[in-house]
Amino acid sequence: MQAQFITLDGIDGAGKSTNLQVIRNWFATHNLPVYFTREPGGTMLGEALRDILLNPATRAGLRTETLLMFAARQQHLDEIILPKLEAGIHVVSDRFTDATFAYQGGGRGVPLPDIEILENWVQGNLRPNLTLLLDVPLEVSMSRISQAREKDRFEQEQAEFFTRVREVYLKRAASSPEHYAIIDSNRPLEHVRQNIENTLARHFGIAA
Ligand code: TMP
Repeated sequence: MQAQFITLDGIDGAGKSTNLQVIRNWFATHNLPVYFTREPGGTMLGEALRDILLNPATRAGLRTETLLMFAARQQHLDEIILPKLEAGIHVVSDRFTDATFAYQGGGRGVPLPDIEILENWVQGNLRPNLTLLLDVPLEVSMSRISQAREKDRFEQEQAEFFTRVREVYLKRAASSPEHYAIIDSNRPLEHVRQNIENTLARHFGIAA
């Protein structure tokens, strides 16, 4: 099997950090070579752009924000993701282009076809082999965000913004079920863990 590109995505407060650990443990248990990374970020330039993008003091128009996400992504692909995959190492990215469709497209209102143009330009044919979409009802997301000590530029948005973000994520997942697994993250942790492990096992053709 070729090295797989797997992404984890979902609205803020969907439980990414907890479930990333589940994914890390799964790869370790099965002794598979894997590299964990995140967006925006993953490279020196990408992390610098991340600081700017998440800083509540930053003023950025919706096109600028979209272009900066893709600038970070281009560097991430060239410097990290593609070389790892070519070396036979699986890559798991905490967020990827689905987040741009959801946040800049759904949330901010950038036309989705414009994002598709950038996606094709930056990524060529590369798409994640599997995206784990963590989903929670909006109230759960909002209540988890409200517990964050300091809210970043996105976490400061209102419920309507996240409603639109979530809608785009769910629509994208529904339109290509072979590439997405929607993980109901509003269940007991043990149940969510099982669901993620079963999904990965199925994808890699390994007995759960
Ligand atoms: P997180 O790593 O804590 O999830 O924070 C990243 C934030 O950046 C999150 O609110 C989603 C946002 N984001 C976008 O708006 N567009 C993107 O393309 C990516 C990768 C992230």
